[in-house]
Amino acid sequence: MSPAKKKNAWTRRHLLGLEDLSADEITLVLDTAASLAEVGSRTVKKVPALRGQTIANLFFESSTRTANSFALAAKRLSADVLTVNVSTLSTSKGESLRDTARNIEAMGVDCLVVRHAIAGAPHLLARCLDCSVVNAGDGWHEHPTQGLLDIFTIRQARGRVEGLTVAIVGDIAHSRVARSNLWGLTKLGARVVVVGPSTLIPPWVRDFGAEISNDLDGILPRCDVVNLLRIQAERQAKNLFPSIREYAQFFGMNAARASRLKEGCLVMHPGPLNRGVEITPEVADGPHSVILRQVANGLAVRMAVLYLVIRARQIGRKTGSAPEGE
Ligand code: CP
Repeated sequence: MSPAKKKNAWTRRHLLGLEDLSADEITLVLDTAASLAEVGSRTVKKVPALRGQTIANLFFESSTRTANSFALAAKRLSADVLTVNVSTLSTSKGESLRDTARNIEAMGVDCLVVRHAIAGAPHLLARCLDCSVVNAGDGWHEHPTQGLLDIFTIRQARGRVEGLTVAIVGDIAHSRVARSNLWGLTKLGARVVVVGPSTLIPPWVRDFGAEISNDLDGILPRCDVVNLLRIQAERQAKNLFPSIREYAQFFGMNAARASRLKEGCLVMHPGPLNRGVEITPEVADGPHSVILRQVANGLAVRMAVLYLVIRARQIGRKTGSAPEGE
């Protein structure tokens, strides 16, 4: 960004990952989400910000939270929403992802929200489409809106992110959520401790300057936030720890561990939960848990992302300039 441009101007027509964003851009999304959150408390939960725009949701992997909150976020901004049923797509007849996406775009779509099992699939589409592309999770790579909503929730509850100690616990190796959190949290000045069995902590974690620990009990008393990740059995080619029971014993958040948390420590989980594995029911539903607050905040964060990327594309088309972040 040139120094002549306003520090907090958003010029990206895509959101592909938090790796790409500066601390100022992340803060701008969080501030925009904070303004838009108020829409959810109105009697008529709708603003006309994206009236006349069309947003298509293309989810090649299952989703409860992300898919539905993107659809609802688009509706709250008065956009038209196309939810593509991937089980009936012509990809099953051999059509490529690129051709499928280009055909959907040809129906007048302004923004494509895409989740795909292959890392880099949204990046490929961003290169060959004119519409905005938002990454709703690509393989093990990134889940930027989950990272943003996690950071939004921390900032909302604690008033800041800088200087806080955030533990990310569990299956780091297979987690796009961990990667997006690591990018976002470290850019905003949090101290990140990555915790889990050595087999689930990949060497790239060191590149973020994160602390690595295999001792959850040892680090708990100094944490401001404990973000527990789901054990992703579907992404593990071989058993990376002896048993689920042993994992829960050493790395699960249970009542005994929760009793040793600092006052005000947040317990987070991106969902879906494996109750009794990463977290016991009494902690998931207990006083430290902000898990449903994360889901609620996801709506405001996705409204902010859709609004910012679509507006940047509109401005780029009007001025004839290619927006940044392409
Ligand atoms: N956290 C998350 O991405 O949940 P879904 O898979 O339900 O979207």
